[in-house]
Amino acid sequence: MSTTSAPREQWASRFGFILAAVGSAVGLGNMWRFPYLTAENGGAAFLVLYILMVALIGLPILLAEFAVGRGAKKSPIPALVHFGGRRWRPLGAFFVLIGFLILSYYSVIAGWVVRYTVEAVTTGFPAEPGAHFGAISTGWSAVLLHLLFMALTVAIVRGGVRGGIERAVVVLMPVLFLIVVGLAVYAATLEGAGAGYAFYLQADFRELLTFKVLNDAAGQAFFSLSLGMGALLTYASYLSRDENLPRESVIIAGSDFAVAFFAGLMVFPIIFALGLSEAVGESTIGALFIGLPEAFNQLGGPGRVVGVLFFAALLVGALTSAISLLEVVASSAIDTLGWSRARAVAVFGAGIALAGIPSALDLTVLGLLDQIVGNVFLVVGALSISLFVGWRMADPAAEVRKGAGSLGWLPAWRAFLRWVVPAFLIFVLFFAIQDSVQAVIAELAGG
Ligand code: PHE
Repeated sequence: MSTTSAPREQWASRFGFILAAVGSAVGLGNMWRFPYLTAENGGAAFLVLYILMVALIGLPILLAEFAVGRGAKKSPIPALVHFGGRRWRPLGAFFVLIGFLILSYYSVIAGWVVRYTVEAVTTGFPAEPGAHFGAISTGWSAVLLHLLFMALTVAIVRGGVRGGIERAVVVLMPVLFLIVVGLAVYAATLEGAGAGYAFYLQADFRELLTFKVLNDAAGQAFFSLSLGMGALLTYASYLSRDENLPRESVIIAGSDFAVAFFAGLMVFPIIFALGLSEAVGESTIGALFIGLPEAFNQLGGPGRVVGVLFFAALLVGALTSAISLLEVVASSAIDTLGWSRARAVAVFGAGIALAGIPSALDLTVLGLLDQIVGNVFLVVGALSISLFVGWRMADPAAEVRKGAGSLGWLPAWRAFLRWVVPAFLIFVLFFAIQDSVQAVIAELAGG
């Protein structure tokens, strides 16, 4: 099949595109990483830093990915070649590699979520969540769950942009919003909610005085917004000309932040209302899969319902993010190898499933991958796309003006992508690399 024989698919509606992009952004990162990062790094002070990071660094890059994707109407590799020439091929390939690697371990965590959701519905939460999690999180049962989740992801992406992805997100995303807001409201009625809010949000500006916090905030922003690896670039490549890209960018970033913020508003009051605050001290994974189920147990009947809803929302978030990760890889195989969608999805879905097995067998592999890919590769990817649109692409502002009209700030956006964003990211990268090297050394010394 030649690469140009079939007309490129398009989203059926603007709403579908927005929900797909929000679906990519909202995921485990929002409900698992964000609340804890905030609580540990100065509460409301971190929140301010994070919002600044999203607005000043995240949004310009988001718009840059949109401009490249919609402008070229191609997946990352040919899109970068379209605007930059063949020398930019490796960057596109790097994006595909990141998608491949993130999905390989993301799907392992999502597999645990599948298990918790099914168990919550059928048998309730385990009496000893700690022992239970220890038993299911690694080993062949974890592999099986990971394969199951990958199969689900493959099944949706196989249906195509309109018939698979869009059909899934227009149903799933509204459900997720309702659950998250509903549970946050429910959590507010619990006695002891105040202590949870205090733990979450009490402002401590001293925490902001370290470089590590900048790195954490930046890494989280990119991971949460799905930036730096071409997911939103790919989704934008299925857009028609007339969408207003800056407006959609703000809606997507705002929704992503709102869900992360509300996740904290539901998680901490529930944990604190039950006096389980010691569970908070553990790892973020521990809190999610051990601390919360313990709380759901203690809440009795309502706890079961709340727990089912919570894990269902988590599952939806994970699934709609996973499909965007697979779509980056699949669309690249379709565009560059000339494969059919069915073949691309089957072959690369199987490849990712295999690559995830080490993470399912050993939590340290999962943790290291998350640290290196999440904090270093995504920052490198974001830096590269910023430089690409800032310096290499001939006239990115012209692409943005289609659908948005002439905007006075577009030259400032370009200047930002040229100077401010790269300078900041190089600075962040320095600490991210240092951190990752230390993590690997500690692992080698300890193991
Ligand atoms: N944004 C997703 C989350 O917060 C993860 C993700 C990263 C998805 C990169 C796609 C690309 O869980």
